[in-house]
Amino acid sequence: MTEDARGRVGVEIIGSGMHLPEGTLTNQDLEQLMETSDAWIVKRTGINTRRRADLASGETSSVLATEAMKKALVNAKIEATELDLLLVATMTCDSPTPSVGCVVAHEIGCRDIGAMDINAACSGFLYTISIADAMIKSGAYKTIGVIGVDTITRHIDYSDFGRGAAILFGDGAAAVVLQASDDPEKGMIAHAMHADGGGAKHLFIPSCALDFPEEVEFDERKLNTVQMNGQAVFKFAVTKFQEVISETLEMAGIEADDVDHFVCHQANSRILDSARDRFGIPEEKLLVNIQKYGNTVGGSIPIVYDELMSSGKIKPGQKMMFLAFGAGLTWGSSLWQL
Ligand code: UT7
Repeated sequence: MTEDARGRVGVEIIGSGMHLPEGTLTNQDLEQLMETSDAWIVKRTGINTRRRADLASGETSSVLATEAMKKALVNAKIEATELDLLLVATMTCDSPTPSVGCVVAHEIGCRDIGAMDINAACSGFLYTISIADAMIKSGAYKTIGVIGVDTITRHIDYSDFGRGAAILFGDGAAAVVLQASDDPEKGMIAHAMHADGGGAKHLFIPSCALDFPEEVEFDERKLNTVQMNGQAVFKFAVTKFQEVISETLEMAGIEADDVDHFVCHQANSRILDSARDRFGIPEEKLLVNIQKYGNTVGGSIPIVYDELMSSGKIKPGQKMMFLAFGAGLTWGSSLWQL
């Protein structure tokens, strides 16, 4: 890899891979666990089924992440020893420490490179590839592994009491390998990372009574499970999703038509439809796979990327916009020249 006359390097995504748990949780399964129906879930979310990690047999985030990264390395045709840094987007570490990054780096056989987790919930992968791009362009690193993984179902209450959130989520992991390129035009060309902690309690996981805001009644059954004000999050997501697309197009000086793929966080097919309608995005430019996996939090965006990649839809020279929103509240975009 060489720098151009102005000392600039580009960034390329040289490989990807995904790994999902084998266990499934269909709408019909949920009908047996709580008062809900397949028809209600499909109409409100577009989801038919999701994957669920078997935590009892040790299927944790680091296990899924390790398999995803191994596949990405094979796809990129490089060895784990060639990675200079490993970044993991997750909000569901196996335990508070060590990080998933440290566990995966050891499992796949990295050198003693830096490894860490970044927590921005459903926006985690988007934040993390944006950071990785900047770290490569700074000249500090040449090859970075980036993983998005979550085993969020460990924080779901599969009873009537938790049904508002239970229907949405699934587990999964996917990874990409980023590498410095001779072509300085390649890589991230515009991005936006946003957060508003003022909306933190619209989507949170309380671990003790103090975590409950005044307006939410304390109930022991809510501890360690996802608490969501679905309507507030829906409104936030529809609004910010559209705002951040406009913001990013403006930064890059391009139109929505110039973007070849919108790689979006899969939270609810109605939220994606609203963005498609607003910007006139044709179906083939915005892959929806939520029907198969539900909302996989940090895994969601790289799973979409890997499905597009393995179906041969991604071509050099195209433009791709990654888009996410989620707990925090967080939201953002990352526009890439491939
Ligand atoms: O990464 C970001 C993560 N989160 C999101 O993006 C979530 C965004 N929000 C949503 O996707 C939607 O708000 C949901 C799909 C979660 C819920 O859809 P909704 O249209 O906002 O439903 P709602 O909460 O307003 O509830 C409507 C009705 C209520 O009954 P009543 O009060 O009208 O009699 C709920 O009790 O549906 C009931 N309900 C259910 N019924 C069957 C709530 N959950 C369920 C359920 N099955 N699972």
